[in-house]
Amino acid sequence: MAYRSLVLGAFASTSLAASVVTPRDPVPPGFVAAPYYPAPHGGWVASWEEAYSKAEALVSQMTLAEKTNITSGIGIFMGNTGSAERLGFPRMCLQDSALGVSSADNVTAFPAGITTGATFDKKLIYARGVAIGEEHRGKGTNVYLGPSVGPLGRKPLGGRNWEGFGSDPVLQAKAAALTIKGVQEQGIIATIKHLIGNEQEMYRMYNPFQPGYSANIDDRTLHELYLWPFAESVHAGVGSAMTAYNAVNGSACSQHSYLINGILKDELGFQGFVMSDWLSHISGVDSALAGLDMNMPGDTNIPLFGFSNWHYELSRSVLNGSVPLDRLNDMVTRIVATWYKFGQDRDHPRPNFSSNTRDRDGLLYPAALFSPKGQVNWFVNVQADHYLIAREVAQDAITLLKNNGSFLPLTTSQSLHVFGTAAQVNPDGPNACMNRACNKGTLGMGWGSGVADYPYLDDPISAIRKRVPDVKFFNTDGFPWFHPTPSPDDVAIVFITSDAGENSFTVEGNNGDRNSAKLAAWHNGDELVRKTAEKYNNVIVVAQTVGPLDLESWIDNPRVKGVLFQHLPGQEAGESLANILFGDVSPSGHLPYSITKRANDFPDSIANLRGFAFGQVQDTYSEGLYIDYRWLNKEKIRPRFAFGHGLSYTNFSFDATIESVTPLSLVPPARAPKGSTPVYSTEIPPASEAYWPEGFNRIWRYLYSWLNKNDADNAYAVGIAGVKKYNYPAGYSTAQKPGPAAGGGEGGNPALWDIAFRVPVTVKNTGDTFSGRASVQAYVQYPEGIPYDTPVVQLRDFEKTRVLAPGEEETVTVELTRKDLSVWDTELQNWVVPGVGGKRYTVWIGEASDRLFTACYTDTGVCEGGRVPPV
Ligand code: BGC
Repeated sequence: MAYRSLVLGAFASTSLAASVVTPRDPVPPGFVAAPYYPAPHGGWVASWEEAYSKAEALVSQMTLAEKTNITSGIGIFMGNTGSAERLGFPRMCLQDSALGVSSADNVTAFPAGITTGATFDKKLIYARGVAIGEEHRGKGTNVYLGPSVGPLGRKPLGGRNWEGFGSDPVLQAKAAALTIKGVQEQGIIATIKHLIGNEQEMYRMYNPFQPGYSANIDDRTLHELYLWPFAESVHAGVGSAMTAYNAVNGSACSQHSYLINGILKDELGFQGFVMSDWLSHISGVDSALAGLDMNMPGDTNIPLFGFSNWHYELSRSVLNGSVPLDRLNDMVTRIVATWYKFGQDRDHPRPNFSSNTRDRDGLLYPAALFSPKGQVNWFVNVQADHYLIAREVAQDAITLLKNNGSFLPLTTSQSLHVFGTAAQVNPDGPNACMNRACNKGTLGMGWGSGVADYPYLDDPISAIRKRVPDVKFFNTDGFPWFHPTPSPDDVAIVFITSDAGENSFTVEGNNGDRNSAKLAAWHNGDELVRKTAEKYNNVIVVAQTVGPLDLESWIDNPRVKGVLFQHLPGQEAGESLANILFGDVSPSGHLPYSITKRANDFPDSIANLRGFAFGQVQDTYSEGLYIDYRWLNKEKIRPRFAFGHGLSYTNFSFDATIESVTPLSLVPPARAPKGSTPVYSTEIPPASEAYWPEGFNRIWRYLYSWLNKNDADNAYAVGIAGVKKYNYPAGYSTAQKPGPAAGGGEGGNPALWDIAFRVPVTVKNTGDTFSGRASVQAYVQYPEGIPYDTPVVQLRDFEKTRVLAPGEEETVTVELTRKDLSVWDTELQNWVVPGVGGKRYTVWIGEASDRLFTACYTDTGVCEGGRVPPV
């Protein structure tokens, strides 16, 4: 009972506010990070049983120092975690980025997550995941630090939205799950990140002077929006998770017992291991108790001094009894089990590249001042034919926003004039700026850790020139002051950009977030469009952008005939675009966010970044469930282009039917009890297990897990005396819990994935000229009169047709699970089906969130076309 009230208190009352792990800044009333202890053991899910029993056999042979060694990185720039080589457990290589293999040669620079989301194409998303996994394996990494679903894309100005798939939990969730599947099938552990609330870049990190901002999220919003993609990723079997830099409800994510122990490991039944984001580890014992399993890159949050909160400190904390050996064993077992689960004990290649140099030979320990040298690069080319997948993603993401008078596609006989520096690759080279922290030339990705090095960049002007050799190119972002009057039929193609990235770099005044440029095109791009439209009758705008733009100063200009969003196309920015411009392929991308007419069509909490404050910056999610189209629909604000919008050169008709599959009860059936987990001795190990080996030659700044003999002996003496000196947080307990009703399997109660309804949709290409692919989007409208406020419509599934010739048709099927028809009940702490007993849910089928003309009713089993959309 005590446990139940603890759970109920979480995020819902302030009664537990005083019982926090470390002193915290106050957060607004109603937002609470309740304690949740102990860290649930991993290993109770049947599909992980074999991996856990192998792990148990290995871990039971490890010494204390071996165990603590594998829970941490060995230091920034050193690469990798510690190992237990004696037992064959290697250093693990954890490598970015969400769009490929970062800081490596001979790899593919795939389109970014936002571009991938814009395809709304499950097969392509999966294929990109497979290719990324193959490249990671070829380079010998163990852990792929992606995909990213946090930020979710709540704030249009947020710096890292482009690493994820779009501003909707279901789009993020399905794209992440397919990426994880593709990557992990190659024997690479995927990482779902960043848990959670990292919706802006500025003020995200804890430093000695200021805590990272607090994302204040209520329980229902957490479950129905921000956690949704994490739950789906855990359901897909993701092997690792990364915490976010910021705090949630006042508690730092890297030591947030409620989020890690309670939500991720107990409710979502996560079986893998949880790592900190880089240099966000701010405590030793507290983070271990709160459920963190791996500290990356090993240093304290001020790196390069050779200090760690774990490694030798974790050895000490176990010896002196502050961290129960049981907790360390679980941390280590989770890491080792995940390694076994993905077959990395069998012929897994070792890393064959260095992130620090492109030379063959380099420093073996790059952070050390005096390091031995050796071969660090083997130049393994892992690209295979992945450019084809990269190109297809880039192409099928291109989103046609406007096409007045069906002006597009172009013909190769038209006279073309191209404007804008983004048409051509950066003249200094595509990789000239470190971590792509500049906006020069074609913008294929944002900046920060989420990038890869381009092997080449197929830029738009080269691809256009292949088709129209005498195209005129004005490689400038300002309209040339002397420009001969064009002839009436000349077509101007204007390239504009908007960039963003990680807070570690500032680009043209933007600190990661678009705090300076806001939603305007960079380099006066909007003015370039306006000026071009003064001269030319026919203007096509092509935007390479991290997210929404303010298009209002020119979008209604009748001379602006066409607008295409390339998003962030990666290395295949040219042919993919030319194929669309010249009509070899119809555009089939759809917006993974809404574009409003005014930035403040969204409430302040969404539209604006939180600025500096003394103490902890507070980012309160006062809009609750209402982000992006959910907000606009509620407020009846027409956006310029709605979420899901995207035109084609042809038209489609939709004809749907609905089948009831699994009848639903109010709450999911009772979960099964947890299976058994590894059992080890809980005795404090002998101090000698942590002694430095005799005559060991230490490398400066390399992080080790050994202690001096005296330190180890002293700690052990305290530990076996059994005097609990550590000031454990309120609510601390070591008794394993049975797990909440909402849990029971990976991702939650397995019944949440029961298919409730299936909706086959027959799509027909009703045009007579162009082939094309249709996006089928399914949005659910909840029953009227239920005691929960729900958004007007919510995306729940999507499918994409193959290329359909004129007159051709295909039937695709979208599905609705129990979870898709549920709400998170904060009192019951469970998913509730508010329409149980035959209340009508309407499943709206269409090609955008505001183009929903077919309605299917769950009560009558009837679908009707030609309906007036609810938005
Ligand atoms: C980023 C992570 C990234 C890590 C390692 C951090 O700055 O937030 O997304 O995986 O660095 O490079």
